[in-house]
Amino acid sequence: MVQGRLEGKVAIVTGGASGFGKGIAAKFAAEGAKVIIADLSQEPAEAAAKELGCHFSVADVTKREHWQALLKLALEQFGGLDIIINNAGTTYKNKPTVEVTDQDFDLVMEVNVKSIYLSTSVLVPYFLENKRPGVFIQIASTAGIRPRPGLTWYNASKAAVSNATKTMAVEYGPQKIRFNAVCPVVGSTGLTHLFIGKPDTEENRASFVSTIPLGRGSTPADIANACCYLASDEAEFITGVNLEVDGGRCV
Ligand SMILES: NC(=O)c1ccc[n+]([C@@H]2O[C@H](COP(=O)([O-])OP(=O)(O)OC[C@H]3O[C@@H](n4cnc5c(N)ncnc54)[C@H](O)[C@@H]3O)[C@@H](O)[C@H]2O)c1
Repeated sequence: MVQGRLEGKVAIVTGGASGFGKGIAAKFAAEGAKVIIADLSQEPAEAAAKELGCHFSVADVTKREHWQALLKLALEQFGGLDIIINNAGTTYKNKPTVEVTDQDFDLVMEVNVKSIYLSTSVLVPYFLENKRPGVFIQIASTAGIRPRPGLTWYNASKAAVSNATKTMAVEYGPQKIRFNAVCPVVGSTGLTHLFIGKPDTEENRASFVSTIPLGRGSTPADIANACCYLASDEAEFITGVNLEVDGGRCV
């Protein structure tokens, strides 16, 4: 029998109820991982878990106690934890920067950045205490590297994610805890209408897609394949990368 590339690993995928996260959960489950989908939205999370043969937990990634509960769940259900995919993220609607509200700013910093702080604050001690190699993969964005107008603080939040990922990669390399980021370019998910500032149709995505050399947006399968490689033992010497899965957009 051919073994899956993630056989025996235990993974948490945040925001796994839809979009890129659901694609990642599907790929990881197909490759033999035991997956916990952690999402704010109960019904879609439950439905995705049922469809993909995963566990699920309703969790808000901006709450420390929810991260503590996720760790407890992984230990109780599966006896350990190996991989964390910090995929849950959000944005405000594309608009002139002077129109951004305090609420918009706080939202992207809480969901996109504080979530990474909390996940590592709660989970890195688990890996250190158990002398266990761990893998953190953050879903950042090409927006943090090659920003477009109208999303200043979303873009800045993703740049912070990539920077924090690199910092922790060098800090915890000696303990064999790996940190990498994956950067999608625009796709077609629950957030796309906010990124482009209008309904998510092929026509409305066209100006974004025209700047992508390979001529299309990121799909959940593209992002899942990259995450699978980075999470697997094939990538045991890869840490601190910011992998653009973007059809050449950032060149
Ligand atoms: N769609 C794109 O074009 C694009 C491009 C680059 C990067 N990204 C990033 O990809 C990631 C996934 O987004 P998506 O595009 O698949 O969108 P999506 O809306 O389909 O999925 C996001 C998921 O995160 C969940 N979520 C939101 N806030 C949460 C919270 N506080 N706690 C727990 N779960 C929460 C949502 O319920 C949803 O299921 C995000 O980090 C996003 O910034 C998306």
